[in-house]
Amino acid sequence: MEKIKIALAKGRLARKSFELFNKLGIYKHPFDKDTRKLIFEDDDVEIVLVKAGDVPTYVERGAVDIGIVGKDTLLQEEADIYEIMDLGFGKCKMAVAAPTGFKRKKDKKLRVASKYTKIARDYYLSKNEQVDIIYLSGSVELAPIVGLSDVIVDIVQTGTTLKENGLEVIEDICPISARFVANKVSFKTKSKKIREIIVKLQKYLEMEGKDENN
Ligand code: PRP
Repeated sequence: MEKIKIALAKGRLARKSFELFNKLGIYKHPFDKDTRKLIFEDDDVEIVLVKAGDVPTYVERGAVDIGIVGKDTLLQEEADIYEIMDLGFGKCKMAVAAPTGFKRKKDKKLRVASKYTKIARDYYLSKNEQVDIIYLSGSVELAPIVGLSDVIVDIVQTGTTLKENGLEVIEDICPISARFVANKVSFKTKSKKIREIIVKLQKYLEMEGKDENN
């Protein structure tokens, strides 16, 4: 029988995503976080580990049937895929941060550095503010420190990175967590198998919710 192909995001969501599939009995082998392997096979599934930002592309183009990816990536990449459910892990937030004590100059256009340029643009558009968005591929915390930008738009989880670089959150944009996504065609053609996984996920999340409340 044809296997279900799954894309998982490398990085902070990888371990939890593998653990989830372990617990559901979908992928039975332990995950070695130091492995350089990119493809992981089991009886019914083939899992590929890709850069977080590429998960929507793999899913949208049908290279895989389903995936797990952060809401930050979904908001940034805007792929034509189904976002099926919130998996409740990988919780953090998207926020605007600035050097501690930052005061905005009213007469100057705000310079915003971010890896998440679309999220930043949409956020300031929603506030009807014209800003100068500067794309950076990482270590964005550096931008306001060296004078490249006034503020940053980035993910904040524990807040340690901001604190260690003398920055603080000045505005929250939205909460972020891991999402289960599916290719629109696979959702029809492999409907039975994908729905089975969704039911398992729902049951698991319900149980977890009950455990947390006890
Ligand atoms: C994110 C983000 C911050 C950090 C925040 O980077 O860009 O740098 O995590 O986490 P904290 O609040 O717990 O300190 P990530 O580690 O995902 O890597 P990236 O720089 O490649 O995006």
